[in-house]
Amino acid sequence: MAYLMGIDVGTTGTKTLLIDETGTLVASAVDEYPMYTPRPQWAEQEPEDWWQATIASVRQVLKSSGIAADEISGIGLTGQMHGMVLLDADGEVLRPCILWNDQRTAAQCEWIMNVVGRERFLDLTLNPALPGFTAPKIIWTRDQEPDVYAKAAKVLLPKDYIRYRLTGLYATEVSDASGTVLLDVSRRQWSQEVLDELGIPMEWMPECVESIEQTGSISQTAAEATGLAAGTPVVGGGGDQAASAVGTGVVEPGLVSVTLGTSGVVFAYTDEPSRDPLGRLHTFCHAVPNKWHVMGVTLSAGGSFRWFRDALGQAEGTIARLTGVDPYVILTAEAEQAPVGCEGLYFMPYLTGERTPYADPNARGSFVGLTVRHDKRHMVRAVLEGVAYSLRDCIELFRDLDVPIQQVRAVGGGARSAAWRLILADIFGTELVTINVTDSTAYGGALLAGVGTGVYDSVPEACAQTIHIVDRTEPIAEHVKTYDEAYPVYQSLYHALKPAYDAIAERDAD
Ligand code: XUL
Repeated sequence: MAYLMGIDVGTTGTKTLLIDETGTLVASAVDEYPMYTPRPQWAEQEPEDWWQATIASVRQVLKSSGIAADEISGIGLTGQMHGMVLLDADGEVLRPCILWNDQRTAAQCEWIMNVVGRERFLDLTLNPALPGFTAPKIIWTRDQEPDVYAKAAKVLLPKDYIRYRLTGLYATEVSDASGTVLLDVSRRQWSQEVLDELGIPMEWMPECVESIEQTGSISQTAAEATGLAAGTPVVGGGGDQAASAVGTGVVEPGLVSVTLGTSGVVFAYTDEPSRDPLGRLHTFCHAVPNKWHVMGVTLSAGGSFRWFRDALGQAEGTIARLTGVDPYVILTAEAEQAPVGCEGLYFMPYLTGERTPYADPNARGSFVGLTVRHDKRHMVRAVLEGVAYSLRDCIELFRDLDVPIQQVRAVGGGARSAAWRLILADIFGTELVTINVTDSTAYGGALLAGVGTGVYDSVPEACAQTIHIVDRTEPIAEHVKTYDEAYPVYQSLYHALKPAYDAIAERDAD
């Protein structure tokens, strides 16, 4: 029996899991680390924390599985995308990693689009430079921390820093590399032209392979640190979204996934690179060789619900502690008591700015439409509905691009809630299915390792052998009608509030 390991370097912690070749979960473990916000809208982490969490979670999995390290056929890496890890010529980390949800680089995005030219940039990278992406962070370092920039010799994405610690190699793969906006996404290789225009040396970029290709193996030093066997192959893996799509089986036309983690992501497989002319959706390489995907991101999805729990859910927190029931379950039960559409109360989930469809770091969260009739039950339901409307914004962009949507698969922590799934099905107007896999990201990493080491013939074959549907949520026609009528109101709110968001951001900057 072959065993496969997936390591997911996430935003809250590193998750490691082990599956056997039938796809059965053998063991998993998470080790958490902090995220630092040195200023509002900034987000950083220490790469050393990821490494320590990798060691801890791998050791835990090896211990609890009882599987000998040399029975593991391959390891697939995945993780949070877009982060910038800068290394000096000795491979030492130069500064904390600036993360995907950091919004400090608006000025650098504008500079990049101007210097390359908007149309040319979109032609090459298929995406605009957005504050969360990697290239603007490199330019920010050039502008704001010239001493650091002067020492830089390599730039890595979060999971690829862990690859470096595990194998000693500087390498990445096409799905995560797409999110740097330094990749020629159609040709699946670094764009010499974009790098030249931005003055970033090609030597800084790690080798870029397809997600199933092997990138070295566990070094002797890493074997001693982690308990893994030296020589175990490590494959490219994928950015967390592409890997999660593999772990959800979204590897053929018509399949779409909705991931409800801290961020919310709507993801569709495409046979060819399908570019949104306005650059609102991301068009990235898929972890399936020579395939692509489109995706839209709501920055605060589960993050909005967590904010509500922490800011306004103290009573539920206390009840949860006393009864042992998850506070989210209590809050969701309250939401179910409020009527569909919340009697005109809307929540805008832009608590950390927004990515899709507005790409606006100034956007803010808000409740709009409060009256004396509304209570906490409406407010929590409005949060769940607001996130679903925001994800529908992404679905509507897919519809505009004629991306086929035959089945929507819901994954991530938020998808465990039947009530939230029904709200999503009702607001999208489509059936929503759930699958047997819970940690789709690390699972996808493990499946990619299986393809790369010959356990499976192809990514679709790996998915077909391991992933199946376990539950279906059908939309309720009456709810769909209510939400269809409410959705244009939701859409109008961003535009109405935009001048206020900008004014607030300007005052904050003073
Ligand atoms: C994708 C994105 C997030 C991060 C963190 O574009 O920004 O999903 O990868 O999970």
